[in-house]
Amino acid sequence: MTSKVRLCPVADVKDGEPVGVFLEQLPALAVYNVDGDIFVTDNMCTHGNAMLTDGYQDGGIIECPFHGGSFDIATGAAKAFPCQVAIKTYPVRIEDEWVCIDQLEGLA
Ligand code: FES
Repeated sequence: MTSKVRLCPVADVKDGEPVGVFLEQLPALAVYNVDGDIFVTDNMCTHGNAMLTDGYQDGGIIECPFHGGSFDIATGAAKAFPCQVAIKTYPVRIEDEWVCIDQLEGLA
C-alpha cells in the first residue's frame, strides 16, 4: 500500500500565491492553486539555485525569480528560456482538506 504525505492545508494555498513546503526527506516542494485546482512540483528551478515559490505565478505558469525562465505548473514543462529541463510534478490527492502526495519511492 502506498502511504501519503500531507503537505499543507488546501485553504493555505491561494490562487496565484504558491506555497513552499519543506519536509525532511523530501525535495523542496511548491504547491499551487490554479483557478481552484491544486498542483505540486519541485520548488527548485532546473536552471539554477532558485526557489520557484519566490517567483511569480501567472495563471498556470510559474516564473523563476532569477533569470526569467518559466514552467507550466500542470505539466512541469519548461516554457521560457533559459529553462530547458522540465521540473518534476507530483500527482495530488486532497484528503481531509489537506494537499497530499504519495510517499516517494526509496524514502522511509
Ligand atoms: Fe531559474 Fe535561472 S535559476 S531561470
